[in-house]
Amino acid sequence: MNSLPIGIFDSGVGGLTVLRAVRERLPNENIIYLGDTARVPYGTKSRATVEKYAVEDAAFLIHKGVKVIIIACNTASALARERLRQEFEVPFLSVIGPGVRAAARATKNHRIGVIATEATIDSGAYANGIREACGDTPVEIVSQACPLFVPLAEEGETNSAIAQQVAEKYLASLRDQQIDTLVLGCTHYPLLKSVIAETIGSEVILIDSGAATAAEIETLLREKDLLTTQADKGWSEFYVTDAAKRFHRIAERFLGYPLEHLEAVEVLEHVGNFHAS
Ligand code: DGL
Repeated sequence: MNSLPIGIFDSGVGGLTVLRAVRERLPNENIIYLGDTARVPYGTKSRATVEKYAVEDAAFLIHKGVKVIIIACNTASALARERLRQEFEVPFLSVIGPGVRAAARATKNHRIGVIATEATIDSGAYANGIREACGDTPVEIVSQACPLFVPLAEEGETNSAIAQQVAEKYLASLRDQQIDTLVLGCTHYPLLKSVIAETIGSEVILIDSGAATAAEIETLLREKDLLTTQADKGWSEFYVTDAAKRFHRIAERFLGYPLEHLEAVEVLEHVGNFHAS
């Protein structure tokens, strides 16, 4: 079991920010990444649709023989993690829990901002999770959907005048709320970290759910005695459901290095295989 890869899935390229953080923390682990590029974005879709996609993504990774699955997509984490836990036996780690716990630890004034996709905000997953994590301490949560941040990150417009204008549009109202902590509740937002920090104010602590998840996956693997014992650097394999060329180009920018192995696949086939086995 220990030598099996970690599975990571996202609606597209955004989850590579999570993969990068996991790679930095656990360099010897092997990783299989699935980006559902044919059906991105998840952030504007209904719970039923996101659950269906997430089940198909997870079935693909299980078919590949992973020991644990990180749901790198915040939207899938918010809307589908319960369904995935019901459906499959493999352990799942969503990005919401680690982000929530990191925010609850960071805040001093208990005024926390959450930015994410529309579906994640509407689900209330971050707001409810933060309230729970803060226990009896009253906490004020201000949420804002920032849909345009996703295409900006994909197009590499992370520090341009357009990015600044969009950040101003979304974050101006949050700036007046005296928040001391802001959760970046979407895979793509860590790429816009510097423009977000400039706009919201450098005194506000930015919580990167991907980095928080990398720390928690190490704990989870240790607890389950699943950490790899291999001494060599781990390998990574990348699968996409469409537009492999575009993924390759953007992924190189996200990761800062070229992909070792990239393949276009059909995820639906594996749901059948999984249920039949
Ligand atoms: N991966 C999604 C998330 O973290 C953002 C892109 C999408 O909407 O699918 O919520």
